[in-house]
Amino acid sequence: MKKKMAVTGFGFMGAVHAKNILENERLELCAIVDNRDSIFEGIEKTGNHGELGLPIDRLKKVPVYKTLEECVSKEQPDAVSICVPLFLHYELTRKALNLGLDVLLEKPFCPAVEQCDELINLAEEKGRILMVAHCVRFFPAWQFLSECIRDKRYGELKLLTASRMGGEPAWGVWLDDKIKKTCGGALLDLLIHDIDFAISCFGKPEDVELNLNVAEYWEFELKYKTTPARISIKGGFLHRHTAFASEYIATFDKGSVRYSSLQPEFIYAGTDAGSETIEVKGDGYANELDYFAGCIEARKPPIKCLPEESLTAISVCNQIKESKHNSC
Ligand SMILES: NC(=O)c1ccc[n+]([C@@H]2O[C@H](COP(=O)([O-])OP(=O)(O)OC[C@H]3O[C@@H](n4cnc5c(N)ncnc54)[C@H](O)[C@@H]3O)[C@@H](O)[C@H]2O)c1
Repeated sequence: MKKKMAVTGFGFMGAVHAKNILENERLELCAIVDNRDSIFEGIEKTGNHGELGLPIDRLKKVPVYKTLEECVSKEQPDAVSICVPLFLHYELTRKALNLGLDVLLEKPFCPAVEQCDELINLAEEKGRILMVAHCVRFFPAWQFLSECIRDKRYGELKLLTASRMGGEPAWGVWLDDKIKKTCGGALLDLLIHDIDFAISCFGKPEDVELNLNVAEYWEFELKYKTTPARISIKGGFLHRHTAFASEYIATFDKGSVRYSSLQPEFIYAGTDAGSETIEVKGDGYANELDYFAGCIEARKPPIKCLPEESLTAISVCNQIKESKHNSC
């Protein structure tokens, strides 16, 4: 039987999750929860992915509630995807776990590590599955990179530079100056994706070195004893409406690979023997959701994306911020 899943927060990411739930054969989209009145207004063009290609007619048939409590009492969902602004992550996840739901929470986890810790313990106590939606782990281009690092098909990794930049979000809650201040800036909102990817490959870094920070632009290195590779991450927010791109260049002993989301269909690789073009297939958000669906079906912890690692990503961001303060 399909698991009943609700989406709380029907903005950019909520709409993406709702669409993917509708298209997932293990899940049923049983409700949408949002505290706004006209939730479909402008939804198709929200976010930084262009048109979202939403099945609007099907979405409009889904029951809509203003609060999670009301949704739970009427629909009895098994799980909820929480896609609200960061300042509500702790409160709503806590509520959902206490209501007995499995939770897929949009990244970043919570602003404070103590809050993350408390939610991890609460999920365990309630026997619920909690996963933070660190989607990059499920994006095919990054999965390819992760495999190259692991199976050493191009030799040992020497250098990884990951970059992520684009206009400051110009949709939803980001247009409210008061809420925008609580969204964590480019470090927590954007660069945490690459920090989390590094954590998925190498674990928690021993140290961080901040090389440059100008307003919402950051360049830093994650220092590891577990790998001889240098891991450099850079990026941030540009002026609103500037094209978004996430990119990587990885250099190994015997070859290099590079990818840019501006050309999402291909990864380019080069060795002394010649060049290679690798086709990128699949949707990372759909993969992520399907993985979560598998975990709640099998009652297994999300080992590919554990909340403990999502907590680590928060603590690395905090370390980077602290190193900024210490260098001032
Ligand atoms: N994984 C990714 O690639 C990615 C991309 C963008 C945003 N995000 C994350 O997704 C989350 C949401 O960001 P967004 O860009 O979708 O924001 P958004 O502003 O587009 O959507 C947020 C929605 O939450 C609703 N909301 C606010 N308070 C609520 C409440 N108490 N109950 C129910 N609904 C409520 C708002 O009405 C709005 O519709 C954030 O945590 C953000 O970091 C992830």
